[in-house]
Amino acid sequence: MRVLLTGSSGWLGRFLAPALRAAGHTVTGLDVVPGPDTHVLGSVASRAVVDRAMGLGIDAVIHSAALHKPDIARNPVSAFVDVNVTGTLNLLEAAREAGHDRFVMTSTTSLMISQAIRDEAGDAAVWLDETSGPLAPRNIYGVTKLAAEGLCRLYAAEHGLACVALRTSRFFPEDDDTPTGTDEENLKAIELLHRRLTVEDAAAAHVMALERAPQIGFGLYVISAPPPFARSDAEALKRDAAALIRDRFPDAEALFAARGWQLPTSLGRVYDPALAEQQLGFRCRTDFAAVLQALREDAPLPFAHDPAYRAGPSR
Ligand SMILES: NC(=O)c1ccc[n+]([C@@H]2O[C@H](COP(=O)([O-])OP(=O)(O)OC[C@H]3O[C@@H](n4cnc5c(N)ncnc54)[C@H](O)[C@@H]3O)[C@@H](O)[C@H]2O)c1
Repeated sequence: MRVLLTGSSGWLGRFLAPALRAAGHTVTGLDVVPGPDTHVLGSVASRAVVDRAMGLGIDAVIHSAALHKPDIARNPVSAFVDVNVTGTLNLLEAAREAGHDRFVMTSTTSLMISQAIRDEAGDAAVWLDETSGPLAPRNIYGVTKLAAEGLCRLYAAEHGLACVALRTSRFFPEDDDTPTGTDEENLKAIELLHRRLTVEDAAAAHVMALERAPQIGFGLYVISAPPPFARSDAEALKRDAAALIRDRFPDAEALFAARGWQLPTSLGRVYDPALAEQQLGFRCRTDFAAVLQALREDAPLPFAHDPAYRAGPSR
């Protein structure tokens, strides 16, 4: 298919464009900043820019451009509405007018995180999947991504445009913008237990969603590395995560220690990607077990870590 990929100069875009080509698609990239896979320079918030891109001959849209969490500090609330909400509407409307039969949007697990969940005050880890709610996103990023998902739902219901929104967990390579005091590679390794995936897996999920969307209609999926826990582990995860991890992976603590890392004492939330596996047929290739395998073999870590990476259009 001829795919319009928005956000083509971004971190996900630079992995998704080649993944789409490897699957036999051609890619037209749209972004506000230049990049090797960006052909149309401009904002999704401009309907004229979107129409210019659509005029190049497009069969389907993958909409990954967004202002996201790192952009909150340097953009007004209205910019988030313009890019994440109006931008999504412009693309949906253009896709409808062009008679497309599918649309894929990158969403975020972040919109499921209320202030209460972020505070992790309960005595059990919060188990998060597509049924979680009522949703109360704690910042403008989550609020506008939830609105964008709502627009996708509306266009599927009212116009029969099959839309799949992928609520991906974190895959950024840079350091966490909320310092935790934990070594950042150690942190990313831990996050693959419950709230992270690799950027390669995020790209693969989009390719799969593009292919499956017409059979799905409207689909909303949590996309994250499969956690080695069950919902029934929620209390134990909060109370003593390290004990549970030692139980599942007997050599994990020694492997971590050899690298100067530590197991987490407590985990406060788990993203459950089971529905994506059942309905979309997608499961991340890289999980926590892959990290341990790399440590055992003294091989490169299976996730990207780049403290110098700066996300967003003003990087
Ligand atoms: N990075 C993560 O951990 C993470 C987690 C969950 C969801 N997401 C989502 O994944 C998608 C891609 O994020 P990323 O990590 O690659 O971020 P990124 O900032 O590296 O890439 C986003 C791209 O969108 C572009 N963009 C911003 N405003 C635009 C506009 N108005 N018009 C056109 N392009 C615009 C930026 O220039 C950038 O190249 C986003 O939708 C983000 O919300 C990211």
